[in-house]
Amino acid sequence: MTGIVAQFPEFRDRGVLVTGGGSGIGAAIVEGFARQGAKVSFIDIAETESRELAERLSRDTLHPVRFHQVDLRDVGAIRKAVDTIVAHSGPIGVLVNNAARDDRHEFEAVTEEYWDSNQATNLRHVFFTTQAVAPSMRAAGGGAVINMSSIAFLLNMPEFPAYTTAKAGVIGLTKSLAGKLGPDNIRVNCILPGMIVTDRQMKLWLTDESIAQTIQRQCIKKVLHADAIVGPCLFLASDCAAAVSAQSLIVDGGIF
Ligand SMILES: NC(=O)c1ccc[n+]([C@@H]2O[C@H](COP(=O)([O-])OP(=O)(O)OC[C@H]3O[C@@H](n4cnc5c(N)ncnc54)[C@H](O)[C@@H]3O)[C@@H](O)[C@H]2O)c1
Repeated sequence: MTGIVAQFPEFRDRGVLVTGGGSGIGAAIVEGFARQGAKVSFIDIAETESRELAERLSRDTLHPVRFHQVDLRDVGAIRKAVDTIVAHSGPIGVLVNNAARDDRHEFEAVTEEYWDSNQATNLRHVFFTTQAVAPSMRAAGGGAVINMSSIAFLLNMPEFPAYTTAKAGVIGLTKSLAGKLGPDNIRVNCILPGMIVTDRQMKLWLTDESIAQTIQRQCIKKVLHADAIVGPCLFLASDCAAAVSAQSLIVDGGIF
């Protein structure tokens, strides 16, 4: 459960697409919009947990939550999935470009192939998913796009330069897309999460000690979970943010 109680009536029956919605922050965002009565579809590469999430949520949400298995590195597959979603559920009013992989990589070991694959996983699909969704948003009179960046590129973190490059790129892309799509009443904004403790983060990177160190740097001395990103995402997608575009919102408990 997201724990979000605020209701935005404009989301009822609205088409929402979340990438990387099968786990972590994306799953919380899927749930957040589904509990607003939106028609939520999500894309993920991971099948089992995504199917479980869609089935679990669909039991008590206004509209069934729909999962599309897509590898976002495949631009043709993105276009096909978006066409299917629009044909089935109608126009997409909100797009959350959330998917990424914060894989660590050794500076010396990075090849051209690895670099390109990393950018395809973390940056390229943000452009192409937005490009695929834009015509249906435009036809519906407007919409909102929220891209997921990270504070990681502000922190001099040496362990994943391809990832931090992509996350910095998401901000430049957000600005440019906001300028391009603004005349069509499509707003494009960006969220930079801080340390969000998810299953993947706990399994791969975080320890009790590293969590405590980060909390030390936060103004708000609490562990942040995926639901911390849901409220800001709903706000940016909502009519409350009707004049907000081309912006980056840091949600890190106050590190920056
Ligand atoms: N968790 C954090 O602390 C944190 C901090 C800063 C930024 N972020 C950003 O927030 C977003 C979500 O992060 P998270 O921690 O929930 O990650 P996560 O790994 O838990 O979830 C990412 C989802 O994207 C999916 N995905 C990955 N590659 C894909 C591909 N090629 N095609 C389709 N789906 C794919 C994964 O299967 C997964 O379900 C990411 O953009 C991440 O960079 C997270």
